[in-house]
Amino acid sequence: MAFPQHRMRRLRRTPQLRRVVRETHLTPADLAWPMFVRPGNGIRKPITSMPGQNQVSIDVLLEQCQQAVELGLPAVLLFGIPETKDAVGSSSWDDEGIVQQAVRCIKGRFADLIVITDVCFCEYTDHGHCGVLRERHGSFEVDNDATVANLVKQAVSHARSGADIIAPSDMMDGRIGAVRQGLDQAGFEQAAIMAYSAKFSSGFYGPFREAAENPPKFGDRKGYQMDPANADEALREVALDIEEGADIVMVKPAANYLDILWRVKERFGLPTAAYHVSGEYSMIKAAAANGWIDEKTCALETTLAIKRAGADLVLTYYAPNLARWLKEG
Ligand code: PBG
Repeated sequence: MAFPQHRMRRLRRTPQLRRVVRETHLTPADLAWPMFVRPGNGIRKPITSMPGQNQVSIDVLLEQCQQAVELGLPAVLLFGIPETKDAVGSSSWDDEGIVQQAVRCIKGRFADLIVITDVCFCEYTDHGHCGVLRERHGSFEVDNDATVANLVKQAVSHARSGADIIAPSDMMDGRIGAVRQGLDQAGFEQAAIMAYSAKFSSGFYGPFREAAENPPKFGDRKGYQMDPANADEALREVALDIEEGADIVMVKPAANYLDILWRVKERFGLPTAAYHVSGEYSMIKAAAANGWIDEKTCALETTLAIKRAGADLVLTYYAPNLARWLKEG
C-alpha cells in the first residue's frame, strides 16, 4: 500500500519527527576549509572582501588546523601568497615555497588532517594569469603546453612536501593526465588528484582577487574557463578529467550550478566536490550584516542544498562556522 501523503505531512509536525524523515544530513565530515597562507609570523591579515577570512602566517595556520581537527573537519585547502612573483610563477615549484613549508608543518602536527593544495599559477605570476604567456597576433594568450609542464613541477613539489590531494584549478587541456604521470614517475602514486573539472567563468570569484592578491593585470580568464551557459560541455570536461586519472571531480561555483553537480554525480558516480566560492560566501555575509537574512539559517541551507544536489565534499569558507552551528543543533 502506498504511503498516504497526509501521513507524511503529519510526520513533519515536530522537530523529532522531521529529523526521522530527513533525507540529507549535513555533517562537518562533508566540509573542507580553504585557507590563505603567507610568509611571516603572527600574521592574521583580514581579507576585507571576505569578512571573517584572513591571510595567515604558518603559526596562525596551525592554530586554524587545530580548530579544524577539533571541529571534525576532515580537510583543509591551501592557497599560497608568495613573497615573489615572476612571469612564469617559478616560486610555486620551489620546495621551500610558502605552500610547501605550510604542508610540511601541518602534516608534522596533524598527520590525519587531509591537506589539499590548489595547483595554479595566478597567485605566482606577476601578470596574474594562470600560466605562461605568449604573444600571438599582437595580443597575449596562455601557452597551454608550457603551462602544463610547469604545473607538473608544482604538483610534484606539493606531493614531496606531503600533500594528500593535489587540486589543479587552472583549466589547461591535458593537465590531469600530465600531473598524474608526473606524480607517478616521481613515486607519488598515493597522492590523489581533485580536478577543478567544471570551472565556470564566474563573477563570483570577485572577492578571491583580494584574498589571493591575483587580479589579472590585463584581460580576463574567460579564454580558459567555461561559459556558464554550457552544461553538456561541463559533462565532457568531467569525462576527460576522469579518463586522464582524476580521483575526485569538482564543480565550481556551487550554488548556481546545482544542476551540473546533480548531472555529474548521476552520470559518473565518482567522488564529487563542489566549491562554494568567495562571492557566494561574501553575499551571505553582506546580506546578513545588513540584517536582511539570517546568516546561520542561510549558510546551512545553502550548504545542505549543495550536498543534496550530489556533493560528497563541499569546499567552503563557512566550514568552521557550519561545524559549530551543526554541533549546536
Ligand atoms: C585559482 C583559483 C581561483 C579560485 C580557486 N582557485 C580563482 C579563479 O579561478 O579565478 C576561486 C575561489 C573563490 O572565489 O573562492 N587559483
